[in-house]
Amino acid sequence: MPMVSMRQLLDEASKGGYGVGAFNVNNMEQIQAIMEAARETRSPVIIQVSRGARKYSQDRFLFHLMLAAVELYPEIPVALHQDHGNSPETCRSAIDMGFTSVMMDGSLLADGKTPATYEYNVQVTREVVELAHARGVSVEGELGVLGGIEDGHGAGVDAMAHLTDPDQAVDFVEKTGIDALAVAIGTSHGAYKFTRKPDGAVLAMERIVEIHKRLPSTHLVMHGSSSVPKELQDIVNQYGGQIKPTWGVPVEEIQLGIRNGVRKINVDTDNRLAMTGAIRKVFADNPAEFDPRTYLKPARDAMKEVVKARMIAFGQAGHAADYEPLPLEEMAKRYQTEAVVG
Ligand code: G3H
Ligand code: 13P
Ligand code: ZN
Repeated sequence: MPMVSMRQLLDEASKGGYGVGAFNVNNMEQIQAIMEAARETRSPVIIQVSRGARKYSQDRFLFHLMLAAVELYPEIPVALHQDHGNSPETCRSAIDMGFTSVMMDGSLLADGKTPATYEYNVQVTREVVELAHARGVSVEGELGVLGGIEDGHGAGVDAMAHLTDPDQAVDFVEKTGIDALAVAIGTSHGAYKFTRKPDGAVLAMERIVEIHKRLPSTHLVMHGSSSVPKELQDIVNQYGGQIKPTWGVPVEEIQLGIRNGVRKINVDTDNRLAMTGAIRKVFADNPAEFDPRTYLKPARDAMKEVVKARMIAFGQAGHAADYEPLPLEEMAKRYQTEAVVG
């Protein structure tokens, strides 16, 4: 089947009351790991590509790998999404290439670090909605600011001080016409999210409940949602790594989010940890090894296991065959007739 609009995929998830993992990719092995996990669990899936991933892979390489993925796994609905688009131009180039969904992250300026004004965020996000919806492509916006900075998609701020304001969220969705809203609830990207198991003092799940009450038909997105399981940290450290003690977002909290309107859950770090642990193990067990296949294969397998576990936990497993994908032209028509902005 062709790549699917993220809007359709999330509308279906909403009907079914489940969430959909959005997994980041940079190379062939990661795409294969996700597609195999989707096949084994019969899951629809979102594959997402950051600006860094596009640069690393000369994006057309990655795009053609995605064409191979949909060709080889015709039973799996897949949306291809631009993660953290920093400008309308980044989103436009993704749409021109064939992405079915883009994130315009106007919570930050184009440098991906400096918090933007609300007016700027509304303006750039609406601009992207107009150009994307005309072509049937879905748009995710972000309101509030994520913490963390090392990956270039965070302001390095105290994440709790920049949580999404529920009233402003209503205004933002109304003014922009986005399909999905990323909310800031205290998470950040990367491995170092929390210094202890998070509770309500550092992870504001109640914001999601509040925002969902006011925006019951807007799909909510949780970024920075790796769980950073101790088992994965331990494998990396057992084989010479240096991951400091840390906590991520417990899967039960994500499931609470899913019961309250969260439909897209972004996971990258857990897969990075799984691959790195597997590669370190091969090198530790056999320092003479130098064929990349002998360490990339276990890395791919380790990532597949993480992705499968998340697909089952988020509830998307078993839903791959629930619906026929709509062509983007049909989505474009629907945006016009439903009088959605753009
Ligand atoms: O949003 C953050 C993702 O983990 C992607 O990170 O920019 O290092 O590819 P990246
Ligand atoms: P993690 O770093 O928690 O995996 O988050 C990834 C993310 O939010 C990508 O946009
Ligand atoms: Zn993110």
